[in-house]
Amino acid sequence: MLVNKKNTTGAGSSFDLLREREAKVLMHTYGRYPLAVSRGAGSKLYDLDGREYTDLLAGIAVCALGHANPEVAEAIAEQAKKLVHVSNLFYQEDQVRLAEKLLATCGLDRVFFCNSGAEANEGAIKLARRYQRKVKDSAAFEVVSLTGSFHGRTLATLTATGQDKVKDGFDPLPAGFKHAPPNDLPALIAAVSTDTAAVMIEVVQAEGGVVLMDRDYLAGVQRLCRDADVLLIVDEVQTGLCRTGAWWAYQHFGLTPDIVTSAKALANGLPMGAVMASEEAAKGFSPGTHATTFGGGPLLSRAAETVLTVMNRDKLAERAALLGQKALAMFGRLQTEHPGKIAAVRGLGLLLGIELTGNGPAVWRALLDAGFIVNLAQDKVLRLVPALTVDESDLAAFAAALDGILAGS
Ligand SMILES: Cc1ncc(COP(=O)(O)O)c(C=O)c1O
Repeated sequence: MLVNKKNTTGAGSSFDLLREREAKVLMHTYGRYPLAVSRGAGSKLYDLDGREYTDLLAGIAVCALGHANPEVAEAIAEQAKKLVHVSNLFYQEDQVRLAEKLLATCGLDRVFFCNSGAEANEGAIKLARRYQRKVKDSAAFEVVSLTGSFHGRTLATLTATGQDKVKDGFDPLPAGFKHAPPNDLPALIAAVSTDTAAVMIEVVQAEGGVVLMDRDYLAGVQRLCRDADVLLIVDEVQTGLCRTGAWWAYQHFGLTPDIVTSAKALANGLPMGAVMASEEAAKGFSPGTHATTFGGGPLLSRAAETVLTVMNRDKLAERAALLGQKALAMFGRLQTEHPGKIAAVRGLGLLLGIELTGNGPAVWRALLDAGFIVNLAQDKVLRLVPALTVDESDLAAFAAALDGILAGS
């Protein structure tokens, strides 16, 4: 429930002082929301003054089991007292147990653990190139990805990303990347050549504004990859782990990717990523060709194993599918009731987008002032990626708040 306290962000507030201190010491990379969070519980966040917010963003699809999840907290605390880190020079039982559980959700054969979504995609790109070179004895090196996509901020992954704004000032960009518009099979067919090592897609472009790929298009992508002997990489960093109503979004569409990347929700807030691959594609790596210091350490693996156990036990994919449908129905009603203000309502499971016809920043700010945290993608799409454990009443309260804001706008 929203505690109707005033948001004390005026001069001299603890928030203001924090903002001033930050301005002096941190690199200016983030456009921050006007909010400093002191603690969280489930789908609630509390600012420095104790004001309660309903968090429908969950650390951008990270805290899928909610903030301060007691089972994850206990696993972390227990493991922290036992063993936090050993080098990947050692065999690690926690990592193997996690790998077995993770691979059982997707039917792929092998996994490499890393630390973020960008690093998972970087690993996937490296694997695809090296597979072509060393296993297929092919010179194919190019990755074809889609306009509007988001794959990360490393040099390779920002080059793969289909949005110019993330590339500005970073040239020369690495060679070997091409883009095709989404849901346009002829364009993708034209972009793929004998130079192509892999096609990389998001089944739902999340940062891009919750843009869904069509079923027929995805079937065509799969066919094209098979026919052209090109690897299919599916970036499930945001869509994976029950978010869309299945363990992995590609499973809704019957795809059989060669490589799948994951991160975000994997350890409910601890930094962890994964590159999963078929037995064949995984042949691209051999000892010494790819590594990372922290990847799959005991603490992270214990946290992630707990996440998978809870998702499985509590049937969070089914829950996300059901709640997502209810949310889409609520938002659809708003679209009808406020003609001309909502251009589209779309989503899959609990990855939801409400595309506004205008006033995106003002509506987003009014929602924040009313105590609801969502994200504004592409300046016009309210993006909701709540915890998979979110109460239906929180989604209904959000819809009621948006109703009031649209009525007054
Ligand atoms: C689809 C997708 N891929 C990759 C990334 C990059 O992940 P990270 O920020 O963990 O590097 C993101 C982050 O939003 C994402 O949504």
